[in-house]
Amino acid sequence: YQKWLNSCVHVAASSCFSSSYTSMNINKVLVADAVDQACVDLLKNNLIDVDCKYKLSKEQLIQEIQNYDGLIVRSDTKVTAEVIEAAKNLKVIGRAGAGVDNIDVDAATKKNIVVLNTPGGNAISACELTCTLITSLARNVVPAAASLREGRWDRKLYAGHEIHGKVLGIVGLGRIGREVAIRLQAWGMKTVGYDPIVSAEDAAKFNVEFLELEKIWPIADYITLHTPLIPETRNMINKKVFNQAKKGLRIVNVARGGIIDEAALLEALENGQCGGAALDVYEQEPPTNPTTLKLIQHPKVVATPHLGASTSEAQIRVAVEVAEQFVALSGKNPKYTN
Ligand code: NAD
Ligand code: MLT
Repeated sequence: YQKWLNSCVHVAASSCFSSSYTSMNINKVLVADAVDQACVDLLKNNLIDVDCKYKLSKEQLIQEIQNYDGLIVRSDTKVTAEVIEAAKNLKVIGRAGAGVDNIDVDAATKKNIVVLNTPGGNAISACELTCTLITSLARNVVPAAASLREGRWDRKLYAGHEIHGKVLGIVGLGRIGREVAIRLQAWGMKTVGYDPIVSAEDAAKFNVEFLELEKIWPIADYITLHTPLIPETRNMINKKVFNQAKKGLRIVNVARGGIIDEAALLEALENGQCGGAALDVYEQEPPTNPTTLKLIQHPKVVATPHLGASTSEAQIRVAVEVAEQFVALSGKNPKYTN
């Protein structure tokens, strides 16, 4: 059962716990990254003890995890095989968000530990940040505002272009990718996209022309990434892609660091092949490696510190969804008030 559940991490509690499933004892939960208080309240209302201990070192987490049946994280805590190995009673790991790349799902599955996530809860927020970044790249909003703040009045240097009539290539047509398509169509962009599990017919239903990646690179004015980080997508945007792309391509990554080869992006920005990039995610977070730091400082880059899901609405949604799944796993119908 756990093997199946972990292989389709996003299934919501209500649909995945069939009546034949035996509930598990979840009495004590560690919340290791800051999630909205709604999560803690919901667990406590359902008689589950909760401790919030943030920014634990690897050693501290290995020590602490032995005392808990459940663990809830966002993206900061790395739930490695070593942590999972040390967990004597752990039955479930909940990710208050979409990506589970900070959790060793294989190691959890081997120990019959369920891994859950809450992907839909922050999709609109991540989509809205993506659209904001695309429009701000087009109009040089960030460097122009910084320059004016420093006392310069430079209207010529920061003239931009319209996105109306431009081609937006969307890589990954899941929850976020398709929401981005719908919104930017309203701005007059032509949307093309690729996803290995979406058919051309389905893509056409939300007005995206389905194209193989090789056909997208040469025609896209903007590329936006909305895939998980998996072996197939690691360094998917690389030197070869920049060379095949339109000169001046602008690229946006609100998905995962590692999908863009950062050294190749830096080179493409330097030689003009890439006209601008907006990044919310990085190979390493917080970034310390020199290439990432150069990208963040680059005049043609707009960089945000992994803010895609950081809205009050998304954080409440994912907090409630993760707690609801824990309560459902423990065999109860969630009780929302005392
Ligand atoms: P999703 O699972 O709904 O969609 C992802 C899509 O990518 C799927 O349809 C999948 O088939 C597709 N895909 C997989 N491999 C692909 C490939 N090689 N080429 C093209 N498409 C491929 O996920 P989502 O909720 O839309 O999230 C997308 C990404 O955004 C994830 O990496 C998620 O972790 C990330 N995310 C980031 C933030 C943030 O704060 N920056 C917030 C939410 C989600
Ligand atoms: C996600 O995958 O949901 C995001 O990275 C959001 C987050 O947890 O910050």
